[in-house]
Amino acid sequence: MAQGCTFERTGQDGKARTGVISTPRGDIRTPAFMPVGTTATVKAMMPESVRATGADILLGNTYHLMLRPGAERIHRLGGLHRFMNWDRPILTDSGGFQVMSLAELRKLTEKGVTFRSHIDGSRHELTPESSMEVQRLLGSDIVMAFDECPALPADRDRIASSMQLSMRWAARSREAFGDRPGHMLFGIQQGGLEQDFREESAKALREIGFDGYAVGGLAVGEGQEAMFSTLDFAPDMLPEDKPRYLMGVGKPDDIVGAVKRGIDMMDCVLPSRSGRTGQVFTRHGVVNIKNARHSDDPRPLDEACGCPACRGYSRAYLHHVFRAGEMISGMLLTWHNLHYFQDLMAGMRAAIADGRFAQFEAEFHSQRADGDI
Ligand code: GUN
Ligand code: ZN
Repeated sequence: MAQGCTFERTGQDGKARTGVISTPRGDIRTPAFMPVGTTATVKAMMPESVRATGADILLGNTYHLMLRPGAERIHRLGGLHRFMNWDRPILTDSGGFQVMSLAELRKLTEKGVTFRSHIDGSRHELTPESSMEVQRLLGSDIVMAFDECPALPADRDRIASSMQLSMRWAARSREAFGDRPGHMLFGIQQGGLEQDFREESAKALREIGFDGYAVGGLAVGEGQEAMFSTLDFAPDMLPEDKPRYLMGVGKPDDIVGAVKRGIDMMDCVLPSRSGRTGQVFTRHGVVNIKNARHSDDPRPLDEACGCPACRGYSRAYLHHVFRAGEMISGMLLTWHNLHYFQDLMAGMRAAIADGRFAQFEAEFHSQRADGDI
């Protein structure tokens, strides 16, 4: 473990774990949900509001920030924490995954990837070494190894060669990261849905040695059932005494299922993005605030929710400002959604600590309706 950072596991119930990652910038209670602040902002939220929802850590993106406003510029301005006015931990993704989903004219070689910016078409290169440098300039607390991830379904040969390339890049990431007390480097397991490739990947990562381990390459089109089948074995292959991070997941039921299978950290754009498109997550299921049936409804989104959107506003008002395209719509709905996700994490942490995770999970499912509520 990087000097100055620790992971203490304080409870376990079945495979579900709870604990605390301690960093010089603050503690991260696990299981943790990380709101996504891709471009140095969690869209529609002030950082103090993000904190008020219960977030201990944010996620930022190497790919977006290196293109705009540039990592050197952020470094000159005092680093990402100072730049965006968030002084708690930040985890940054390493860029390869975003290049593959967003950039144009991508060229993948052993060295790394060259691509054209989706913003202005300018040419760039990312390698394990340059990704570590960008993440250092940003001042990231948890740095992700540079990896590559095929969209699923993909054939076994493609999955194997991609995973093996990512493992060579993981070794180069480790070497380039060096020794940075107070900062952690996480490796990323790949291997698609294939148990033998997941094991090969985990073995390679364990031999290199990381401060934490991510399960990558999931939630890329395989569906929940296939994802859970993979999570039935993949986290068990990673060291028990290090944090395990499932990248890019997910919906509330994905998150509960992942924690049940031994995952400690997650991130997803879902609560913030849905907040801007009028999709609201509640204990009882999803509310689509644009639906006309909310137009005269004096009730809050969720009577039991303590967030500002639920304490101060009716569904009728939230429907109105959404339809009118008012900015407060995105602000209130994002706040509520992030609050809901953080409440869910807090509920799971308490349930694991008390040894009643199965009961928590049963209640979580029984409260929910499938369709719109
Ligand atoms: N975000 C979601 N999945 C992945 C992945 O496999 N790798 C990286 N770097 N980021 C991700
Ligand atoms: Zn609320």
